[in-house]
Amino acid sequence: MDDIVSVNLGTRSYEVCIGTGLLARAEAQIAPLLRRPRVAVVTDETVGPLHLDALRAGLGQIEMVSLTLPAGESTKSWPHFTRTVEWLLEQKVERKDIVIAFGGGVIGDLVGFAASVLRRGVRFVQIPTTLLAQVDSSVGGKTGINSVVGKNLIGAFHQPTRVLADIDLLGTLAPRDFLAGYGEVAKYGLLGSASFFDWLERNGPALAQGDTALRQEAVRRSVQMKADIVERDETEEGDRALLNLGHTFGHALESATGYSDRLLHGEGVSIGCALAFELSQRLGLCAQEAPSRVRAHLRAMGMKTDLSDIAGDLPDADGLIALMAQDKKVLDGKLRFILARGIGEAFVTSEVPADTLKTLLQDALASRA
Ligand SMILES: NC(=O)c1ccc[n+]([C@@H]2O[C@H](COP(=O)([O-])OP(=O)(O)OC[C@H]3O[C@@H](n4cnc5c(N)ncnc54)[C@H](O)[C@@H]3O)[C@@H](O)[C@H]2O)c1
Repeated sequence: MDDIVSVNLGTRSYEVCIGTGLLARAEAQIAPLLRRPRVAVVTDETVGPLHLDALRAGLGQIEMVSLTLPAGESTKSWPHFTRTVEWLLEQKVERKDIVIAFGGGVIGDLVGFAASVLRRGVRFVQIPTTLLAQVDSSVGGKTGINSVVGKNLIGAFHQPTRVLADIDLLGTLAPRDFLAGYGEVAKYGLLGSASFFDWLERNGPALAQGDTALRQEAVRRSVQMKADIVERDETEEGDRALLNLGHTFGHALESATGYSDRLLHGEGVSIGCALAFELSQRLGLCAQEAPSRVRAHLRAMGMKTDLSDIAGDLPDADGLIALMAQDKKVLDGKLRFILARGIGEAFVTSEVPADTLKTLLQDALASRA
């Protein structure tokens, strides 16, 4: 049975439908949103060959045109953004039409941003195909691309009109990509729900091995938590920043590794969560056991947790801090961190002494030696 999570944002409200076999039922899901039976789909070179025919079949009487972009983080850039917008115009996509983002977070972010500027804004539907995109990036309306200066620095808030999270699509994900998405799932437990983190400790391994019901439950709980936070703070004036647990460190590490295969986004988040709990403990905010428990679960899942898990050179502590300073969360020149008083008890603060941060990073870098 499908789960429905509502994201209540007044005129921008929408539903996230989570279930199995959704692609085959795409026509019933999407036809009610359309003024004419035509959609423009953007996907990537991995997802297209695997699942585009199934989407076309599922759309039934709805005509589908499609654009396939290269896979990977470097696609979230001006050249592919320009190409996508121009292609949508060539396809004569009108103000009342729907664009479909069919892929992981890269395609979702890029296509959502393209939809936000096309003819000053057209509607779009997210069909997220990675665990990360199903639990996080497809919900909440943050869209955008990367700049050479930093990640996600160019973008817009543009809520989707519907999200269809088909759990079956996760079956073709490479194990490394599945686990990267699990970094964001664990993040929800760590930031706001100790009981969800308990549940993940018990069910994470079976879920990773392919249990569909457990996967659906993990996606439902994650999306519900994200929806609750986005409803309270759509444009990140306050609480929404909690969703960035692990990201201040993670984004700096992604930047240091050139947004490459050396470190996937969710892997950076996983290491970042471990560092955020370590920092919280060093500042006397949480118990000694908390960072060990975080690291133990992520390790048991086979995830990256330490800087020593990243191959190749990294900048020194000052270099990493300089990269953190490019983060969007910097306010009045001060770095903001998401720290925790315990598992499920995260909060936002700018009060991190520079020497504690530097020592933490020096120690983490020393463990690579
Ligand atoms: N907008 C937001 O709120 C938000 C939140 C979190 C992350 N993000 C962004 O999301 C991006 C990361 O997303 P991602 O991890 O989904 O990366 P991704 O889109 O690059 O997908 C990862 C890889 O999996 C492949 N893939 C996708 N679906 C597949 C499937 N069903 N089967 C086989 N392979 C498949 C892709 O081709 C790609 O190679 C980052 O750019 C990050 O900044 C955005």
